[in-house]
Amino acid sequence: MSNTYSIPFNRSSLTGKELEHISQAMTIGQIAGDQTFSKQSQKLLEQLLGVKKALVTTSCTHALEMCGLLLNLKPEDEVIVPSFTFVSTANAFALRGTRIVFADIRPDTLNLDENRLEQLITSRTKAIVPVHYAGVGCEMDSIMKVAERHGIAVVEDNAHGLFGKYRGRWLGTFGCLATQSFHETKNITCGEGGALLINDAALVERAEIIREKGTDRSRFLRGQVDKYSWVDIGSSYVMSDVLAAFLYAQLEVFQKIQAERRRIWDYYDERLREWASEAGIGCPTVPAHCEQSYHMYYLIMRSLEERQEFISFLKTRGILSVFHYVPLHLSVMGRRFGSRDAKCPVTEEKSDRLVRLPFFNTLSAAQQDLVIKAIRDFIGTLSPSRAKTGVPT
Ligand SMILES: Cc1ncc(COP(=O)(O)O)c(C=O)c1O
Repeated sequence: MSNTYSIPFNRSSLTGKELEHISQAMTIGQIAGDQTFSKQSQKLLEQLLGVKKALVTTSCTHALEMCGLLLNLKPEDEVIVPSFTFVSTANAFALRGTRIVFADIRPDTLNLDENRLEQLITSRTKAIVPVHYAGVGCEMDSIMKVAERHGIAVVEDNAHGLFGKYRGRWLGTFGCLATQSFHETKNITCGEGGALLINDAALVERAEIIREKGTDRSRFLRGQVDKYSWVDIGSSYVMSDVLAAFLYAQLEVFQKIQAERRRIWDYYDERLREWASEAGIGCPTVPAHCEQSYHMYYLIMRSLEERQEFISFLKTRGILSVFHYVPLHLSVMGRRFGSRDAKCPVTEEKSDRLVRLPFFNTLSAAQQDLVIKAIRDFIGTLSPSRAKTGVPT
């Protein structure tokens, strides 16, 4: 898709020693999983974030599925998931037959609305899955208090939020479990990949087993048992070391990547926020107590029609912008696994109006200028009195 646009929405790039590491993995013959680069990636995540265990996986989707298995979710159980999220946040639990209870979001951060969380809890609720949208932390103080009061597990879907913080604490370190994505659109990537972060030490051993097809192969590889066999249910969630080699190269230079993304985010924000707000268009909200991960920059247009016109307008300039998240509670499967009368009005409204701007590590200031110019021109078409022209400074 990116080939037809002069400014794509996303473009992957080499930032560190990706090719060198891949070549090394191939040369030493470590291309299956759980070898040098997987171990190094996991160790780095554990040391940086201070989690008990990090396990690299084939995707964030699979890490979420592991959570469903680890929490022993059953069809009679319920899991609270925001409707405004990627399908995997819900599907991973629906795979266990579990009922999905859709929560609405806050109108500012677009994160699960903690003020309306408790009313969704029943005696069947087994987990709450906050999604740190755009890498801006959910209100974890309130969410953890509610979860603790009711004895419910918290699984953070931190697909967007690696290296973001909430009140000075890393995202992904609040729940008993958290999941990361290394899909190509993410800050740190290996094409397709993910990680399960485990904060509850009691879950580590079983997580290793579930990840290794339900076998105790990890214990065998550590020399703790002399053979391995089928001891639990599980699947094949192990990341190949070829991908882990790529991933490790990116993790090694995470500060450089984060600094680049911060520059890109700030560049958009400094040049768009005032213009947008004058036209009644919204920009991302990052509360003072949240250090965001600089995963994305989005605008909230005034209506669905305007959003669609905006995407088309940018397309005429060769710029690909995209909408985000069709509300899950309205989807075919959302209605099957959730309640037919789930009410998420904020989700519906924001989902109609949100548009994500091109955002990738190598997006240049010159490319951003073209995007900003196009946006200003579009805003100019909305109301002649507010029209401003000229190349942004
Ligand atoms: C919030 C959220 N959770 C989970 C996922 C799934 O990630 P993956 O593609 O690594 O399975 C995504 C994908 O973008 C996402 O946005």
